[in-house]
Amino acid sequence: MDRIRIVGGRPLNGVIPISGAKNAALPLMIASLLTDGTLTLENLPRLADVNLLMRILGNHGVDYKIEGKRPGDQPIAGQIVHLDAANIVDTTAPYELVSRMRASFWVVAPLLARMGEAKVSLPGGCAIGTRPVDLLLMVLEKLGASVEIESGYVLAKAPSGGLRGADITFSKVTVGGTHTALMAAVLAHGHTVLHNAACEPEVVDLADCLIKMGARIKGAGTPTIEIEGVGRLNGARHSVLPDRIEAGTYAMAVAMTGGDVLLEGARPELLQAGLDAIVASGATVTSNAQGIRVSRNGGRILPVDISTAPFPGFPTDLQAQFMALMTRAGGTSRITETIFENRFMHVQELARLGAHIKLEDDVAIVEGVEKLKGAPVMATDLRASVSLVIAALAAEGETIVHRVYHLDRGFEQLEQKLNQCGASVERIASGS
Ligand code: EPZ
Repeated sequence: MDRIRIVGGRPLNGVIPISGAKNAALPLMIASLLTDGTLTLENLPRLADVNLLMRILGNHGVDYKIEGKRPGDQPIAGQIVHLDAANIVDTTAPYELVSRMRASFWVVAPLLARMGEAKVSLPGGCAIGTRPVDLLLMVLEKLGASVEIESGYVLAKAPSGGLRGADITFSKVTVGGTHTALMAAVLAHGHTVLHNAACEPEVVDLADCLIKMGARIKGAGTPTIEIEGVGRLNGARHSVLPDRIEAGTYAMAVAMTGGDVLLEGARPELLQAGLDAIVASGATVTSNAQGIRVSRNGGRILPVDISTAPFPGFPTDLQAQFMALMTRAGGTSRITETIFENRFMHVQELARLGAHIKLEDDVAIVEGVEKLKGAPVMATDLRASVSLVIAALAAEGETIVHRVYHLDRGFEQLEQKLNQCGASVERIASGS
């Protein structure tokens, strides 16, 4: 397994281009199952999760063509992918594939809506919590499907006349539940109203794309979404929105190491709560047509308390990175995780770098230290891994991050992007 060696203590200066958002790209790719036309996605990031989902969709019969792979193509620009689901050959998503990426469970909605049936493996738990799918199944049942669980598989069947619109209230805000409801209701007969829907930008991006495909959706980005079902959807062309979590991650890296970086293409309105916390920590954040610029010159990092919440609150996907920043603050901060019950796996590893963090239920109390020191650390999940990278960039000496395949799932060209701003990040291939 590859490792990453980071020599810390260098400020970051320059430009980091922000890629298309992983968490928008995945549901957008899955939406291709809703049409027999071609869905063309631009600005698709080159990530392990995107490649794996391509394989999963291929298993259902989706043909895909990737543009922008010729020698000499701009290496950091997103790819253009044409997805064509004219012939769905299989409505089963097997355990071997779904267990490797939780979001692939969402294929259940378009398969059920278009083909009338789906058999999809339950995704199971993961490093950050139990992550049930009860609310996703509730959506399918509300739309008239029968849902059974047999030998670890969800078997969903639409009634003979197809799915029917319904009034659906989420007891908890769920991004995946909202994606599922959108993708199932766009082809259902009649009117659907979603109450307490997720307002995340990735939900809005999916709705925008579905509207281009001919869906009738109002209110995406608010807690109440209305959908009027249509008989069929057509192909479309859509550009994946910029990754707010990648942008927030690099912003926190600069706030930690010092320096001055333009996050090219990043959109501040997608991560205001994250930027507010970075400003409160003493960094300067400005934005213009090119993107978001973050700088910090000298001075101690200020302690800031945050609590994760659904959008527009502070994103859980930036909690680990912000904790890394707070490890060097001049005082004590409290970081509360309200979305996932077990998303503190990075605490032990940050401690290996010299951080002082105490856990009390869903609160991490971070007592800032003057210095972190490089050490071998282990990546446990995607966002936890990148928090270790940020901390290592600001630590004295050398850090080796093991199990970097987690990073490859969600950060495109991480080493290149950081190195072109003056960092020293080197990948060591397995076996060497
Ligand atoms: C999405 O996961 C993201 N994944 C996650 O990003 C992100 O952390 C999460 O939303 C919250 O913003 C993708 O978009 C691919 P949820 P999702 O359903 O949709 C509970 C990353 O690092 N819940 O919004 O699976 C659930 O347990 C990943 O990129 C139920 O109880 O998250 C959690 O406590 C990690 N029952 C809360 O809701 C359900 O049926 C929110 O989860 C579904 C969810």
